[in-house]
Amino acid sequence: MTKISPSVLACDFAKMGEEVDSIFKGGAEMAHLDIMDGVFVTNISFGLPVVASLRRSTDIFFDVHLMIIEPERYIKRFIDAGADLVTFHIEATEHVEECINIIKDHGALAAVSVKPNTPIEEVYPYLEMCDMVLVMTVEPGYGGQAFMPECLEKVRKLKAEIDKRGLHVDIQVDGGVNAENAPLCREAGANILVAGSAVFKYEDRKAAIDALR
Ligand code: DX5
Ligand code: ZN
Repeated sequence: MTKISPSVLACDFAKMGEEVDSIFKGGAEMAHLDIMDGVFVTNISFGLPVVASLRRSTDIFFDVHLMIIEPERYIKRFIDAGADLVTFHIEATEHVEECINIIKDHGALAAVSVKPNTPIEEVYPYLEMCDMVLVMTVEPGYGGQAFMPECLEKVRKLKAEIDKRGLHVDIQVDGGVNAENAPLCREAGANILVAGSAVFKYEDRKAAIDALR
């Protein structure tokens, strides 16, 4: 079954708790929390205290997407703040295995991510250690950008590699996902879809989530 992870980046930050609650009630399996440091990407979003505060207000699964350099410095603190799954960028660290180990040692699920120009083969050495791979379908940094269909070729290759090795690794896509391109993402092999604008721009969150699914 396809899981939907609405990106909170597109919500009204003045009422974040209610916004997260609305997607939980709308049937989303998880909430995607985009952490941006102004260095790995030019934008700055929100950080640890916001995650910790949201954690106290909801039971929804937290899918934390770290767009920060040297994620090894902060992984443990994001798990302490409430992350259930931590994704970091392979481009952001020289210590990929160490990052995965920190995540697992602290009881969360581990995922690596690649930007549009990074070959998917770069995650292959870590597949056995990962619970999920996030294939970006926009340049990370901002919500509301146009989906890059050429990234789906990477999803197809990755899915074939995972199946060939007999692994159970989830594939997530993130960036510009909407009800029109969701079937293409699924056909390519993605089973977790992140969507910011395509969920939060609609009043009826359940209908938006159902449309993606
Ligand atoms: C982009 C973020 C995405 C983004 C998705 O850097 O990682 O999660 O918020 O938003 P939409 O669906 O609007 O592209
Ligand atoms: Zn994201």
